[in-house]
Amino acid sequence: MNITNIAVLVSGRGSNLQSIIDNIENSTIPHASVQVVISDVDGTYALERAKEHDIEAVFVNQNKYDTKAGFETEILRILEAHDIGLVLLAGYMRVVGPTLLEPYKGRMINIHPALLPSFPGLHGQQQAFDHGVKVSGCTVHFVDDGVDTGPIIIQRCVTVLEDDTAEVLADRILEQEHKIFPEAVRLFVQGKLIIDGRKVRIAE
Ligand code: GAR
Repeated sequence: MNITNIAVLVSGRGSNLQSIIDNIENSTIPHASVQVVISDVDGTYALERAKEHDIEAVFVNQNKYDTKAGFETEILRILEAHDIGLVLLAGYMRVVGPTLLEPYKGRMINIHPALLPSFPGLHGQQQAFDHGVKVSGCTVHFVDDGVDTGPIIIQRCVTVLEDDTAEVLADRILEQEHKIFPEAVRLFVQGKLIIDGRKVRIAE
């Protein structure tokens, strides 16, 4: 298994995927490559982005499988065929089950648009906005068997402004996502992330 071989799981527009590709292409993330992009939704813009960069783009249709385990076994087959050492969840809107998680524990990283452990799950930006927080942000974390509960790698704060809407706030959070996700990937592929219980130590 090669830790510089990356797979990205997506469900939508893929702007975080794009930030990873861009940071690899400009060598901010050195010696790594996105080998495959897998979407659980057909026709996503994320798949188009992959193709534009000559990256294999695969739609895996959950409806073809009787169980989540069957669906994830197919994803696992693709990951293993590409000798993937790091899996990124970049707007992948499903909870990863044990079939996929167990083989990639400690080697699967998610980006979430809120300051965890607050506002896990879907629409983190909207949840935070509706709650009336004054500061929100984004979190990059290792995936464990909970919903957005794994060890935190990097967080970035974003101040909520008086005249914000949830959409405007989400855009400013997204700008920060595009910075901290590539940074976490760089640290991972350089072997600088050490998981120590709930804590992630950064050896740099
Ligand atoms: C991002 O804001 C990401 O943090 C969020 O989905 C968006 C995907 O955008 N992920 C989650 O909410 C996961 N629970 P993108 O497709 O443009 O990267």
